[in-house]
Amino acid sequence: MHGDVGPFDRFAPVYDRVMPPARRGLLRDGLAVAERDVERMVDVGGGSGRAIRRLDAPQRTVVDAAPGMLRQARRHGLDTVAGDARRLPLKSGSVDAVLVVDAIHHMDRVDDVLAEAARVLRPGGVLVIRDFDPVTLRGRGLVAAEHLVGFESVFYTPAELVEKLTAAGLRPTIVEEGFGYTVAGVAESETGK
Ligand SMILES: C[S@@+](CC[C@H](N)C(=O)[O-])C[C@H]1O[C@@H](n2cnc3c(N)ncnc32)[C@H](O)[C@@H]1O
Repeated sequence: MHGDVGPFDRFAPVYDRVMPPARRGLLRDGLAVAERDVERMVDVGGGSGRAIRRLDAPQRTVVDAAPGMLRQARRHGLDTVAGDARRLPLKSGSVDAVLVVDAIHHMDRVDDVLAEAARVLRPGGVLVIRDFDPVTLRGRGLVAAEHLVGFESVFYTPAELVEKLTAAGLRPTIVEEGFGYTVAGVAESETGK
């Protein structure tokens, strides 16, 4: 398994017991940036579904590369698809909202990950990324701690992600700043409006 996927596969049986619940209000603030109704929501690197199961949508799917994490997501009644964020097994223009929560720093080739999110979004759909700012005090501690335990994580500031989202063809907004932050990107309509 590539990058940080192997450790999460092994950690999957206890993941939900040690992680705090995802913060619904903050996720909703990101989704509010969408310029269309959210019918189909996909949680990429969604693991056990910790984030997406806090949200309502008619269709909710977790995509992850760790089979153990997907098993946990299914135990919560979620639909799952085994797949790599760098080459999503989803049709172009088929999704209204993509979430990437506490996961982008574990993914290598992040430009490919963002390009794939942009590809699968419908016009007006939104990519919502929640992650941790490595230049804050707590962020510096988190970077050190993750590297100490052997993760290959690479963290981005909100400003760095804004640049990358723009390069991927999404219209970016910083929704929430701080140690934990939210950056959203809207897929433009074909006319760019
Ligand atoms: C810290 S967990 C976060 C899980 C979930 N999003 C949450 O908030 O609890 C990171 C997840 O990213 C997944 N992951 C890392 N690289 C990936 C990739 N290239 N494609 C798909 N999943 C990946 C891991 O398997 C793991 O489940």
